Amino acid sequence: MHPSLSFDQAPPISVPYRFFLAAPWFGVMAGILLAWSGGDALASRWTPEVLALTHLIALGFMLQTMCGALFQFIPVAVGGNVWRPKLVANTVQPLLLLATLLLVAGLLFSRPGLLSAAAPLFLLAIGGFVVVVALALWRTPATGMTLWALRMAIGSLAITVLLGSLMVEALAYGLSVPILELANIHLAWGLGGWALMLLAGVSYYVVPMFQLTRPYPLWFTRWFGPLLLLLLLAWSSQLLVDDARWPLLVALPLLLLVSVYAGMTLWLQYTRRRKIHDATSMCFRMAMASMLAFAISGATFFLLPELGADPRFVVWLGMLAFAGVFVSAITGMMYKIVPFLNWLHLQRLGAPLSSVPNMNKMIPPEAMTGQLRLHALAVVLLLAAVWQPGLARLAGVAFAASCAWLGWNLVGAVRRYQTFRDRIRAAGLHH
Ligand code: HEM
Repeated sequence: MHPSLSFDQAPPISVPYRFFLAAPWFGVMAGILLAWSGGDALASRWTPEVLALTHLIALGFMLQTMCGALFQFIPVAVGGNVWRPKLVANTVQPLLLLATLLLVAGLLFSRPGLLSAAAPLFLLAIGGFVVVVALALWRTPATGMTLWALRMAIGSLAITVLLGSLMVEALAYGLSVPILELANIHLAWGLGGWALMLLAGVSYYVVPMFQLTRPYPLWFTRWFGPLLLLLLLAWSSQLLVDDARWPLLVALPLLLLVSVYAGMTLWLQYTRRRKIHDATSMCFRMAMASMLAFAISGATFFLLPELGADPRFVVWLGMLAFAGVFVSAITGMMYKIVPFLNWLHLQRLGAPLSSVPNMNKMIPPEAMTGQLRLHALAVVLLLAAVWQPGLARLAGVAFAASCAWLGWNLVGAVRRYQTFRDRIRAAGLHH
């Protein structure tokens, strides 16, 4: 499965960058929020702070970057034609930003007005995005499992947002809905159906390309997505199935499937011929190790109910998933994509190749590995803070600092792009 790339269709560079540049600052907000609230904030999954932190990362960090990356990835990797990407991105991104801030403030301060204002904005922003992307994904003549994974991911995003909006309105107007079950179904579609499905679909494509590994085996790419989808449907039927063991029966195969993806990715990295230890490979290793830790902890949660009874246990799972898996993997992806996009767009200005700087010059490698080390430290502190509340403020500061450094590295890359672009234009090298 050797991917072919078509860059003629790539959107203007501002389209992915406006999402990428905003995302790290939501991570900074999350870190500051934790540092400000202290250890009690992590006492259970239902504290207002945990709900706010969850959505700062899920929507502010993850959804922003994933939307930005899809605008780039769909035309280039699966030949999909996204309708007026600049217009859509310029509308969706600020709406998403505003909706996220409203939702987070509403959850944090228990303000029904803010919550119910957030829901229609999400429906508009993500609804618009889903329609445009779904049209591109269903119209493309391309085939393959990456494409199917993207289709399933975008459908799952729609389900996540619909369930989220339903819960928001229920909370705002005090409607009686089974909120615990709905939240569990919502989070499974958000983390599993959307985020993990997208990560896996993109990995089939970029892990061999960026990290010089062998391709994922065909049996794996064929089965992973459909099985994940099936298990999520089974998980969602817990509202209908009147059997207390149902969540356990579905969760264990789900966690096994997640570990197979993580184990497979680590295996491919381990067995590649050229061992490169760049920031992206390290980010991915960290993400996959966290995913394995998540699967083992999740199985423990279901199999040893006396341990799982501690309300901090689910917060531990959340830390592993959000900070350990997704922030790490997304950071690694951006460290590959941004230097590459800089190079691609400069080269497209028509300047001779010799005047376009090398990709390694776009973000200094030391800046990436330094930031990555701080991120790893922050993740360790965050995990420890779940059990040692005294560490929460320090963990918050470390996470905020690491995200600010990421943001700064990206700003630096954009500045370098602008400098070289202006130099090429001034020298009249372009045609
Ligand atoms: C798209 C990515 C999203 C992800 C990954 C995600 C993830 C989560 C998670 C993990 C929880 C459980 C929190 C906990 O147990 O502490 C949760 C709960 C919740 N989410 Fe989301 N979410 C997403 C989008 C949204 C959106 C767009 C909305 C609103 C429109 C929303 C509204 C809610 C609400 C209201 C709760 C339950 C709060 C409560 O019961 O008090 N979510 N979400």
